[in-house]
Order: sequence, then C-alpha cells, then structure tokens
Amino acid sequence: MATVERQSLSAQSQRLLNQVLQRPLPRHIAIVMDGNGRWAKQLDRDRTFGHRQGVDTARDIVEFSIKHLKLETLTLYAFSTENWNRPRREVDFLMDLMQRFLREQVDRLVKKNVQLRVMGDVGALPESLQNEIQYAIDRSNSNDGLNLNLAVNYGSRQEILRAVQSLVIQVQDGKLEPESINEHLFEQALYTQGLPDPDLVIRTAEQRLSNFLLWQAAYAEFWTTPSPWPEFSIEKFLTAISDFQSRPRTYGSLNNHA
Ligand code: FPP
Repeated sequence: MATVERQSLSAQSQRLLNQVLQRPLPRHIAIVMDGNGRWAKQLDRDRTFGHRQGVDTARDIVEFSIKHLKLETLTLYAFSTENWNRPRREVDFLMDLMQRFLREQVDRLVKKNVQLRVMGDVGALPESLQNEIQYAIDRSNSNDGLNLNLAVNYGSRQEILRAVQSLVIQVQDGKLEPESINEHLFEQALYTQGLPDPDLVIRTAEQRLSNFLLWQAAYAEFWTTPSPWPEFSIEKFLTAISDFQSRPRTYGSLNNHA
C-alpha cells in the first residue's frame, strides 16, 4: 500500500469540487463499501484482490475528505457482525488488512490531525488487531480534525440492544429514572456518542442499509451506485455530495417546499 499522495484531480472533479464548495457540505458522511468480491471475480481474480483494492479506494476518499472537504466525520463500514459467516480464509485476510491499514496509516493520519474512532464489538477481534486499534486511538485522541470512524464488527441492532442494556442497568442501580430517557440520553449510549448524525449515507453495489446506523441515519439522505467499491472514485464521491446538496431536507415538515 503506497502512502504517497496519489491525487491530482481530473478537470471534471475539479469542476464538481468548486461547485460543492459553494454550498453547505454534509458534516458526516457514512459509507457502505460493497462489491469488492464481485469486482475481483469479474477480473478473474481472487476476492482478496478486491478487498486490497478496496483499501486503496478508502484511503483516497479519506485523503480527499481531509484535504479538500475539511469533513467533520467520515464513517466507513469495514466489517459487519454478519461478515464472520464468510470462509475463514477471507475473514483472516480482512482482519490482517485492517491491521496493516492502521499500522501503515497511523503516522500519516495523526499528522493530518485525524481522530480515529472504532465502533463495534472490538473485544471479539483478534488481539493483534485490538492492540493496533487501541494504539491508533491513543495516538490520535488529542486531534480535532476529521473524525475517522471505522465500523468494525459492527451491527446496528446489536448497538441498539447494547445501549438499551446499559440504560436498564443504570435504572436498576437507581441512577436513572425511566421517564428521563430521551433521544439525547439514548444517543449517549451508542457507539457514535458525541458525533453528529450522518447527513449522507453512500452505498456502492447495492441499495440496502444492511444493519448500518439504523438509529443515526433516521434523516440521512441515501445515495447509491451500481458500481462496486473498488470503482468508486473522487468524481462519484463529489457527485453524491452534489446530489445531496440539491435535495431539500425537511425532516418531515413542509419547510423548504416551494
Ligand atoms: C464488501 O465487499 C466489503 C467488505 C466486507 C469489507 C470492506 C473492507 C475494506 C474495503 C477493507 C477495510 C477498509 C479499511 C478502511 C480498513 P464484499 O466482499 O461484500 O463484496 P461482494 O458483495 O461483491 O461479495
């Protein structure tokens, strides 16, 4: 995985960038990076080749979000609670890939003022990956640039149940009145505590939410493309943001309707 700057923008991307910078940007973009395996199979390559390429695409999007968008929060769905059902070899490969990504990128990310966060059941991951995650979190926790939030062994229903359990325990311990549980308090018990809700959720290759940020994405705009993740580009990213900016967001009211 090269760590040199790979980004010189195409004329079309530069045009789109100038356009999106004229209007309010999303604060939080969340991405389901799907289709790595199918992309590799189309090329007659092993699925792992698709995942490797997927990391390069993710790195490009992270770099671009820092350098050109000054984005506040970027969430990337790297491994779901359902992904354990894949062949052992692929699961091991993905664990190793995430570990290498963190090891190779941590200095660079810290220098760019990125604060790394991980959401999911980290305790079930291999110990070496847990250590790499903790190291990256500790190294970056005083930064205040991009919140790079990696969803690893993450499932939204599990996250919601975990939040419910923690609130029930506080009620049982007499530390919390059931009547005082409101949306704000509930959000404090989610992995995304302290982060803004996603404004824009992007998914490649499919059009499903797949147990991703079910609570937090209540009012998010959804943008999908049939292209698999390794083919996702800066131009597509900017197109998604531009589409987002053209949609009136009413949160259920009639405000902003002509
Ligand atoms: C979906 O493709 C992708 C994944 C399950 C893993 C995504 C992980 C990465 C891109 C690497 C980790 C990234 C970072 C930033 C550490 P798929 O295998 O489900 O593809 P398919 O639907 O074609 O089978």
